[in-house]
Amino acid sequence: ASPVPTLCGVPLKYISLVTLAVQNSLLTIVMHYSRVHIPPSQSYSAPTAVLLNELLKGAISLAIAFSHIDRSPPYASDLPQPGLTSGRFWHSSRLLLRIRKLAREVFSPDCWKLSIPAILYVIQNNLQYVAATNLEAATFQVSYQMKILTTAAFSVLLLRKQLSTSQWMALFFLAIGVGIVQIQTGASDTVKAASFHLFQNSSMNALKGFLAVVAACFTSGLAGVYFEMVLKNSQSDLWIRNVQLSAFSLLPALIPIVLARHPDSGLISSLFQNFGPWAWATVAIQVVGGLVTAMVIKYSDNILKGFATSLSIVLSFLASIALFDFQITFTFILGSVVVLIATWLYNQPNRSSPPLRLGYTVV
Ligand code: C5P
Repeated sequence: ASPVPTLCGVPLKYISLVTLAVQNSLLTIVMHYSRVHIPPSQSYSAPTAVLLNELLKGAISLAIAFSHIDRSPPYASDLPQPGLTSGRFWHSSRLLLRIRKLAREVFSPDCWKLSIPAILYVIQNNLQYVAATNLEAATFQVSYQMKILTTAAFSVLLLRKQLSTSQWMALFFLAIGVGIVQIQTGASDTVKAASFHLFQNSSMNALKGFLAVVAACFTSGLAGVYFEMVLKNSQSDLWIRNVQLSAFSLLPALIPIVLARHPDSGLISSLFQNFGPWAWATVAIQVVGGLVTAMVIKYSDNILKGFATSLSIVLSFLASIALFDFQITFTFILGSVVVLIATWLYNQPNRSSPPLRLGYTVV
């Protein structure tokens, strides 16, 4: 097994999980603010944000993948011709060789496998905006935790992951904990709606928001597990896989933009209409989230990722106390403690039954 990567001595697995929890809380608050607490006449295009997210994430992943490319040529045909190994020509041809190697890896014969999670993630990312536009931030975040259950179900079905009894119990407790926090959320919405901001968009449709969350939970579980399956079934670099994922996202991300385009306005001007600092902030946080998510899937797994994001409920509520005069209650503390205990339980080494086994199917 390859050594576990670390940063300043701390395993990257834990750094990425904590970063993801913080990123999730921040995204929920900023995305919700950018959609709901800004006058509807100034709202920006969510499909544009999804497209920009993929473009930026793809560009960053490409730069990292390029820096990872081994400097020595792997193919005999790439070796320099005798007599061409000195001077500026050789220097620039080495750069070309790296670019060529990168292109070969990006356009590998199995790159099409990423088209499935790419399409699912584009759908999910668009649904996320529908949900954030129609639900209170806290309600959205807690309901979105149902993706832990869909992810566990897809992990068992597709990855043939075997969970121990205590891990199933942890999932059960997690659902209970999230439910308890949801009771708290219902009460808090009124407080927040009253104390929050000047521009509360009143055209929120809770049913539409909830259906969007449920659908997003399914695409999240399936896309995440599929990505994990592709990643762990091959030797390809994580960043190459991310480039492929972003590349396959571009076409589906463009479709809603083209469909929603006003025939009288230019494509670029309608793309960036009302695209202000809050919209850019949402995109930036999403880009960080996408990159960290990929690392979490690589260095730990999808189910653990779900637990990290459920911890972000606690962070979001703490932020709500600081930002929105949110009143902390017993049910909130109880729900959060249950979520924390469930997380701890899920991570306990299992001594009685065989360890978590990963039996990947070939895709
Ligand atoms: O909520 P969930 O964890 O399913 O969200 C995953 C998010 O991370 C999506 O927005 C998806 O676009 C992004 N992602 C990514 N690159 C990956 C995996 C996920 O950008 N390799």
